[in-house]
Amino acid sequence: MNKPKEPCCGKWEGPEKMSLSKAAIPIKELSREEIKQEVKTRYDKFAEEGGSAEGCCPLARESTESFALEHGLYSQEDLALIPKLAINLSRGCGNPTSFANIQPGQVVADFGSGGGIDLVLAAHKVGPTGKVIGIDFAPHMIERAKQAMKEAGLSNRVEFILLDIENPQVPDNIADVVISNCVINLCPCKPCVYKQIYEILKPGGHLAISDIVAIGDVNPEILAYFQSIWSGCTGGAIPEDEYFKIVSEAGFSQLKVVARHTLGPKELDEMASCPGKKFSPVFSEEKLAQLQGKIVSTKFAAVKPKE
Ligand SMILES: C[S@@+](CC[C@H](N)C(=O)[O-])C[C@H]1O[C@@H](n2cnc3c(N)ncnc32)[C@H](O)[C@@H]1O
Repeated sequence: MNKPKEPCCGKWEGPEKMSLSKAAIPIKELSREEIKQEVKTRYDKFAEEGGSAEGCCPLARESTESFALEHGLYSQEDLALIPKLAINLSRGCGNPTSFANIQPGQVVADFGSGGGIDLVLAAHKVGPTGKVIGIDFAPHMIERAKQAMKEAGLSNRVEFILLDIENPQVPDNIADVVISNCVINLCPCKPCVYKQIYEILKPGGHLAISDIVAIGDVNPEILAYFQSIWSGCTGGAIPEDEYFKIVSEAGFSQLKVVARHTLGPKELDEMASCPGKKFSPVFSEEKLAQLQGKIVSTKFAAVKPKE
């Protein structure tokens, strides 16, 4: 944590500068810092209140075991390892630990670790000689995740960093694996996040990400509408091909999609209001219907070359 503090992408000038919005008309311009403050407030309040059992994501509880395994979701065996607190705070869109190939003794960093669901699973996989690092910018999320790790008896395998994952103070060359679950869609500068993921990984390390993206022909005005209120995990969702271009441009190779799941109407509604309707702005149901079939949870892996 002793790196010089330099912005990775200079001044961010507003939604029209984001790749998604090339053709979009911003309704209300939110600055990058306003978006992050808004996101932090939503998730921090949600964590302070302890979360709720209604997730916004296709968790294994709504699917069969074989569907869960095929789609990179939590198995019943995974869920049995997780304290209720972390389940109630879980707001992911997959289970990156299921395809991250985590080995005993490794160091795993979780970008946007939230209530700690994936930290628990990763800590079991790295075992007593490994370590997991939870990074999140919402103080109550960090507190809850600490509590969850304690309840799971895994406190000695975890470290936490309270930090914005776009921030260049993320430490360099310490992780074998980076996981992230439904977080980077929330970040206004996705290239900044992938730069930090690249830097925290050791050469030859790899990432396993579950995130929300847009596919197909989406009306740019509809996207701009959801972007203008940065609604849930749809407001910052960008087209999948643009997203993968960002990952490649950050320096990653061997990008491989391991599973994809198009959100159904209920999942889409919940995802657009993540972490819950009480914490997220009200949106037009009519406009949401126009996104149906076009918002996808994608799970992929990629490698930082050995140089
Ligand atoms: C949708 S929740 C997912 C949490 C967790 N990964 C899970 O699967 O349950 C998003 C999490 O990312 C965190 N987050 C969003 N943007 C962030 C940023 N720029 N820096 C650090 N944490 C961020 C939020 O505080 C929240 O805990």
